[in-house]
Amino acid sequence: MRTLVTGATGVVGTEVVDRLRADPARPGPLTRVARRAPDAAVTTWNSGTEPPSPDLSGHWDVIVHTAASTRWTMSRVEAQTANVEPLRAVLALADRDTHVVHVSTAYVGGVRAQEDLRGPEFEGYRNGYEWSRAACESLAREEHDGPLTIVRPPLIVGRRDDGRIARFSGPYTIVHALVSGLAAVVVGDPDGYAEISPVDDVAEAVASAVLAAPPPPAAPHVEVIAGGGGSLRLSAMIDIACRTLNEFRARHGAAPIEQPPFVPTSTWNRFFLPLANQYLSPFQHHAVQLLAMFQSYTSMSTPFEPT
Ligand SMILES: NC(=O)c1ccc[n+]([C@@H]2O[C@H](COP(=O)([O-])OP(=O)(O)OC[C@H]3O[C@@H](n4cnc5c(N)ncnc54)[C@H](OP(=O)(O)O)[C@@H]3O)[C@@H](O)[C@H]2O)c1
Repeated sequence: MRTLVTGATGVVGTEVVDRLRADPARPGPLTRVARRAPDAAVTTWNSGTEPPSPDLSGHWDVIVHTAASTRWTMSRVEAQTANVEPLRAVLALADRDTHVVHVSTAYVGGVRAQEDLRGPEFEGYRNGYEWSRAACESLAREEHDGPLTIVRPPLIVGRRDDGRIARFSGPYTIVHALVSGLAAVVVGDPDGYAEISPVDDVAEAVASAVLAAPPPPAAPHVEVIAGGGGSLRLSAMIDIACRTLNEFRARHGAAPIEQPPFVPTSTWNRFFLPLANQYLSPFQHHAVQLLAMFQSYTSMSTPFEPT
């Protein structure tokens, strides 16, 4: 079983590689690919921009595609370059007997924002990242005529047991904003569903897809990782984050941070945002725009349906 994992140095890729390596049920070589390889054991390939090296040619039994840019602030053109074109290049390595396991995001589904703050650029998706993840799913369905599994995780945090994670990205941006004081308020619905999954659960779902019998070529399998109606609510998530941070800060002699108040999304967009546009400095304005990107994750009134 010749297996390729793209994005092998990232949050999901690192954990998937560890999980697959530890599994005696997965025979055969496992090749890791990333844009910048930390050592010679990882193949360097800036997919979508440069051609693949010759050792990536030949038949792959499984390609696990986790390579992506998860930056929420990408324009549509940037997102196309960062996510859609790299996938197109990876699909060119597959043949009709290759099982492609494509890692996407749960946020391509679910209920979308009532107000599209960025105009029609993202076709109703809340940012360039989500738009590109949806475009990638469509591309994989159109271009790959072999078996396809799409795994859709929600926001990802560290492992259940020790919190380990390859990079502090995604939801950790909220923690950073809380500590730096950038998040003076949390814009969102305190009762909204905060869908968060530990990275080892995500890797387990991906590894299960790799080891399972591939789905029939004409019927892609979609796996949604979510807590659904039982998922954490936003107020509980912020409360846990602040409490845990303050326990840590107390142990290290640092003053506690204050838990920021919640501002409903509609109040923010109709009242605070126009004021911010008028009175804030370009830097402050940029920070506010960045925080506004969280709205898709802090205002979920309908939970995902986990599979
Ligand atoms: N993290 C989350 O909270 C989260 C939540 C839901 C879904 N997901 C999905 O999970 C997948 C993986 O995300 P992640 O959080 O693991 O991302 P990540 O930590 O940023 O890692 C991305 C990986 O992809 C590589 N990469 C990016 N662009 C590439 C390119 N053009 N060519 C080759 N390699 C490239 C990166 O290599 P370099 O570092 O060398 O650039 C890195 O190894 C994505 O599809 C994402 O949408 C993530």
